Amino acid sequence: MLKNGIQRCLLGAQLMKSFSTSCQADSKVAVLGASGGIGQPLSLLLKESPLISQLALYDIAHTPGVAADLSHIETRANVTGYLGNDQLGDALKGSDVVLIPAGVPRKPGMSRDDLFSTNASIVRDLCKAAAETCPQAMLGIITNPVNSTVPIASEVYKQAGCYDPSKIFGVTTLDVVRANTFVAQAKSLDVSTVNVPVIGGHAGVTIIPLLSQTAPKVSFTEDELPSLTERIQNAGTEVVEAKAGAGSATLSMAFAAARFCFSLLQAINGKEGVVECAFVRSDLTESPYFANPILLGKTGMAKNLGFGELSDFEKQRVEEAMGELKSSIKKGEDFVA
Ligand code: NAD
Ligand code: LMR
Repeated sequence: MLKNGIQRCLLGAQLMKSFSTSCQADSKVAVLGASGGIGQPLSLLLKESPLISQLALYDIAHTPGVAADLSHIETRANVTGYLGNDQLGDALKGSDVVLIPAGVPRKPGMSRDDLFSTNASIVRDLCKAAAETCPQAMLGIITNPVNSTVPIASEVYKQAGCYDPSKIFGVTTLDVVRANTFVAQAKSLDVSTVNVPVIGGHAGVTIIPLLSQTAPKVSFTEDELPSLTERIQNAGTEVVEAKAGAGSATLSMAFAAARFCFSLLQAINGKEGVVECAFVRSDLTESPYFANPILLGKTGMAKNLGFGELSDFEKQRVEEAMGELKSSIKKGEDFVA
C-alpha cells in the first residue's frame, strides 16, 4: 500500500483544504443510509473534499434535516437530501461513487452474519436501483455482513446485465486503519508512517492482518503475533461491547470510508499508484471474493496486487478463514438467485 504525501494529505481535514486549488474535481458521490451512525459523519467528511462537487444524501429517514445542516458548511460540494424510495433514482443519477452504509448494526452477542436477515434485502434493493440508474459508478459496500453483501451486489449487477467486478468493492479499510493504530501503539511508532495490509474478508477469523508485511519493517514476538492478530480481528466486537447496545463502530468507520472514497476519487481523476485494501471478486485463492491490496485506476480496480509472501502463521490464518469465507459468499449469491 502506498502512503505517500498526497494520499495522506487527503486524509487530514486541514491539509485537505490546502489541496483544494490543485486537486479540485467534479465528482458526484451518493451516500445511501446517510442519516445513520456512519452516514452522518461520513457525509460530513465528504463535504470537506474538494474532489466532490455533488453530495447526494439518501435515507428512509431524516435526510432533509441532515442535508440542510451539512449544506451550510462553506465548502464546494452541493448537498442534496433524498427521502424514501421514490427519490432513490434522483439521488443516484449521475453518481461517480455510491457508498452504502444502509442497514442495521450489531448489538452485543451478535455476529455480523446475524445481520444478514435484515441487511441482505436492503443492499439488494439499493444495488438494483444503482445498477439501473448509474451502472458505471464505483460501488463501496459498507453494510454488514460484507462477506455476503458484496456477492449480493455482484449478483444483482449480473442480473441487470451490467456487472463489472472492477467497480464493486467491500469496504474493509477500517481493518487496515485499526491494524495501523494497534501496531503503532504496540511498537511506539508514529502511526502516520505505519501500514499493515489486511487480507481475507471482514468478519472474525476472515480478517487477516499481514503483520509480516508491516511497513516500516517491524518484528513481533511469538506472543505479540497472535495477540495483535486477535485484537484486530475482534476490534469491531470491542466497539460493539463498549457501546453496550447503542450500535457498532461509526466514527472510525466514517473515517475509513472517507479515506477509501478519497482514494477512489483520486484514482478516477488520474492519480497513479493509489492502493487500498478492499474485498473484491478474486481468483487468488479458492474463495471467489477476497480482500487484499488493490491498485485503483480511472475505471475502478486497475490491478489486483495480491498478497505477496505470507508467513507460516498467516498461511494458517488464510486456511482457517476459507470455510467461513466461502459459505458467507455462497449465502449472498444464493439469496439473490
Ligand atoms: P445505523 O442504524 O446508525 O444507520 C443505518 C442507516 O441506514 C439508518 O439511517 C437507516 O434509516 C438507514 N436505512 C435502513 N434501511 C435503509 C434503506 N432501505 N435505504 C436507505 N437507508 C436505509 O447503523 P450504522 O452504525 O450506520 O451501521 C450501518 C451498517 O454498517 C451496519 O450494517 C454495520 O454493521 C455496518 N458497518 C460496517 C463496517 C465495515 O467495516 N464495513 C464498519 C462499521 C459498521
Ligand atoms: C466493525 O468492524 O466495526 C464493523 O464490521 C461493525 C461490527 O459489527 O463490528
